Amino acid sequence: MIKVKKRRVLLLPGDGIGPEVIAEVKKVINWFNDKKSLDFEIDEDLVGGISFDKHGIPLTDEVFYKALESAVIMLGAVGGPKWDGVEFSKKPERALLKLRKELKLFANLRPAICFEQLVNASTLKPEIVSGLDILIVRELTGGVYFGEPRGIKPIENGERKGVNTHTYTSSEIIRVARVAFDLAKKRSNRVISCEKSNVMEAGQLWKEEVQSLHDKDYKDVELSHMLADNCAMQLVRNPKQFDVILTDNLFGDMLSDEASMLTGSLGLLPSASLGAKNKDGEMRAMYEPIHGSAPDIAGKGVANPIASILSFAMALRYSLDLDKEAEALEKAVQEALNDGLRTKDIMSDKMKEVSTSQMGDAIISKLQ
Ligand code: IPM
Ligand code: MG
Repeated sequence: MIKVKKRRVLLLPGDGIGPEVIAEVKKVINWFNDKKSLDFEIDEDLVGGISFDKHGIPLTDEVFYKALESAVIMLGAVGGPKWDGVEFSKKPERALLKLRKELKLFANLRPAICFEQLVNASTLKPEIVSGLDILIVRELTGGVYFGEPRGIKPIENGERKGVNTHTYTSSEIIRVARVAFDLAKKRSNRVISCEKSNVMEAGQLWKEEVQSLHDKDYKDVELSHMLADNCAMQLVRNPKQFDVILTDNLFGDMLSDEASMLTGSLGLLPSASLGAKNKDGEMRAMYEPIHGSAPDIAGKGVANPIASILSFAMALRYSLDLDKEAEALEKAVQEALNDGLRTKDIMSDKMKEVSTSQMGDAIISKLQ
């Protein structure tokens, strides 16, 4: 068994704007090391398309073992049109999926919070999104993303058949539902569980297992069930009805993209992918911005580093037990926004447009 090194932070910037936003995270970590003597050990390596270009695969064994012994992985983004033609098993995204699966990071936390300063950046009316604070808990290592059989195979008449399998076991459902209920208790105490129990057996099992776990251990949390298509609709109709949304891998992928746009910009939202704690209390975890590699703006210094910096705040809270430092970092982000500083994606009238690194520097100066 490879032991997790408590203070080891592995930076995997990846592709597109990944390196630019992770560079700002690195500055933040160095600040904590210099000013708060937190002695994080930083390591950095390649993942995704950039790894494919150099090594012919998106995740080398060496990097995978580094990931195994790091308490925190900070991932930037992977993928881009450059690798569209690459064979499926070597696509940049496979690196991300392998890390999730092999590190058993089954609980993906995706908060969608609408910052008051940015209420007008949303495409929805301000009164619909103002004060919004949702947490999506997405199952991350099961369902149709990983189910077998899968593949593309020739069938009769020269046709081909693409197959993916949506499966869930009771224990896979229960462990992620537990995470959702536990987190709800620290928030508004409400969980809405989403599936398609009207058409899928795996969805029916999901609903039953979530309900029986609730009745057994979480009677004090308010639970309701919603069909995933209805949830997609309710998210734009009246998003403030939600507190914690618990859902599977595929629905969680879609609903979290939708929820993110309620807040105005994909550039603001962090995420955490957590594994189970072992008997020594150690846990593996990966943190990443929700946004993708955005190749169209890569290298221009205009990407918003806030989602990545807030992802590191989540790491401070969930992996490193540094709640105070997490709050300080979140507050510093708020203050930089209060000063009217905006990257291009969230720029509006009378605000001051800043580059990726200027935003990072401003946030760090607020930490002082
Ligand atoms: C996400 C992304 C990934 C996913 C891709 C890049 C594999 O969309 O994290 O939401 O589908 O899970
Ligand atoms: Mg997605």
